[in-house]
Amino acid sequence: MSNKDISSSLKESRSFPPPAAFQSRAHIKSEEQYQQLWNYSVENPEKYWSEQAESLLTWFKKWDKTLEWDLPHAKWFSGGKINVSYNCLDRHLTPERRKKPAIIWEGEPGDSRTLTYEDLHKEVCQFANVLKSQGIKKGDRVTVYMPLVPELAIAILACTRIGATHCVIFGGFSSDAIADRNNNAESKMVLTADGGWRRGQVVELKKNVDEAMLKSKSVEKIIVYQRCKNTVTMKDGRDFWWHDLMAKVSADCPAEELDSEHPLFILYTSGSTGSPKGILHTTAGYLLGATITSKYVFDLKEDDVYWCTADIGWVTGHSYVVYGPLANGATTVMYEGAPNTPDWGRFWNIIEKYKVSIFYTAPTAIRAFAKAGEEWPNKHNLKTLRLLGSVGEPINPEAWMWYQNKIGGGNCPVVDTWWQTETGSIMISPLPGATATVPGSATRPFFGVQPAIVDKEGVPVEEGKGGFLIIKTPWPSMLRTIWGDDNRFKEQYWSQIKGCYFTGDGARRDEKGNYWILGRIDDVLNVSGHRLSTMEIESALVSDPAVAEAAVVGAPHDLKGESIHCFVTLKIGNAPTDDVRKRLIDVVVKHIGAFARPEAVRFTDSLPKTRSGKIMRRLLRDIAAGRESKGDTSTLEDFSVLAKLREDEN
Ligand code: PRX
Repeated sequence: MSNKDISSSLKESRSFPPPAAFQSRAHIKSEEQYQQLWNYSVENPEKYWSEQAESLLTWFKKWDKTLEWDLPHAKWFSGGKINVSYNCLDRHLTPERRKKPAIIWEGEPGDSRTLTYEDLHKEVCQFANVLKSQGIKKGDRVTVYMPLVPELAIAILACTRIGATHCVIFGGFSSDAIADRNNNAESKMVLTADGGWRRGQVVELKKNVDEAMLKSKSVEKIIVYQRCKNTVTMKDGRDFWWHDLMAKVSADCPAEELDSEHPLFILYTSGSTGSPKGILHTTAGYLLGATITSKYVFDLKEDDVYWCTADIGWVTGHSYVVYGPLANGATTVMYEGAPNTPDWGRFWNIIEKYKVSIFYTAPTAIRAFAKAGEEWPNKHNLKTLRLLGSVGEPINPEAWMWYQNKIGGGNCPVVDTWWQTETGSIMISPLPGATATVPGSATRPFFGVQPAIVDKEGVPVEEGKGGFLIIKTPWPSMLRTIWGDDNRFKEQYWSQIKGCYFTGDGARRDEKGNYWILGRIDDVLNVSGHRLSTMEIESALVSDPAVAEAAVVGAPHDLKGESIHCFVTLKIGNAPTDDVRKRLIDVVVKHIGAFARPEAVRFTDSLPKTRSGKIMRRLLRDIAAGRESKGDTSTLEDFSVLAKLREDEN
């Protein structure tokens, strides 16, 4: 968090009130209405959440207690019985919604499918029976490593139907990453596909799973969906085709009545230390968070066609491709492939073809589209759009303005939504019919959310000053723990500022009460909206026999937000050649995945360190960004290291 970031955002004074036509139809129609409801929600949190749980969700049995808060452990809606897939499917099987498209899907090659609520319900029930027939029981963990096809949504909904806990792994992760997650979650089964399409190539998912199986101790069976018809090896007794098993079961599978706090899913994300963290979300609270934010932030209406471009391998896909929209009975669009295949018009083509009205994507994509040029969106009719959203990283005001003008035609509110894997659902965002939007600001806290910006001691900072973003009180969709490591959960989120949830982000609040997120304050990078820890990349690098030491930092990148720069010291006797550089890049790709490919690997005889031996990353960040180092360097042990690194750069 530098002063530069803070002053540059202070210059932003443009503000856009909600368009009148939008406002008059919106669920929340004015700033006053928002403020009144927000005040009520934070003054009477249990009452507020209890009322929302009652009106937005369908329960088998009502809860006894709204919140049991034993800091930092929360139990929401104890004693209640509920099922996520029932709320996303069965309750929409009404005469009005039964035939409504639940999922409109397009594959990268151009194939497409529409599943109505009735179709999706049938597939989910059938697949839930497949899981049961293969020995999956309530509480078992199931890994899901699939392309973005409807079967991925079917797989996770089927898990929720029987109370199995799903662990989705993004298809870009490598076999090592799959094995680590399988072992950490002690998954009993992996659901995958032969392959998935990406930029015209088949990504061989089953092959990656086969490799991961060499190190995955707990997995007994693999179910393979046939997508690309590429050749795969099937191991007798262990591997089964999705379609073979589906043909053998009935479509009758009543939803399990699960406890509110039943473990719903584990999703792995990077932290600044240690291995990836398995963030645990539970049933009722998470569902309520995803449902209520989808309704109000996206202002969902019965006739909307809603498209969130995220992959289901990330939390955005969980909450805003599958659970949030389906719980609201909305139509959700899914697209399997790359945004620029066959060309930069692909997204705009999809919006025109399916008459998308709400579009939610990431700043990294917006910047890439802006760079590709406005001729691409200009070729398409985007007039059906009425609302735009952004998520995953700070959006720079230029990209925000381009998005509003070139994609939204100047008529659509842009909601910049701040949240995290850990928060489960959107925490800070404009409400499109109520909040005046400001390019680059996520604006206001959602109902029931009480953020604050504080210094190291937990003292609130002055208005306009940067500080740590914390959340002061529990909310229903908060993470419950880190799977298998409750101490790490307590330490990482609840020990920095007493009694409060520590987000790891820096932020400031302006005189209008708008929040500006300034990015991570720890060693976590945000590359194209994906969280990566520098430590994980460093461990991958030092696993190479030639590497003595490595330090990884992020540098600003026009399209990706941040890019990965590695500083590497080789062991004596190893020459710093291009071959070694290439090999080290491959090592990172092998350990983590292609999306973590470093932008640069620089060799250095030594790394800048403090006298106590701590690597001074701040200085490396300056070098990677090509800027002068400001601030204190008096603790640097050996000044010549820095001079040498700068020389190499020139
Ligand atoms: O640094 C913040 C950034 O992404 C982090 C959360 O990453 P992840 O758990 O992968 O979830 C991404 C999707 C919710 C945050 O700590 N971030 C997310 N949204 C925004 C953001 N930074 C600025 N503005 C946002 N709208």
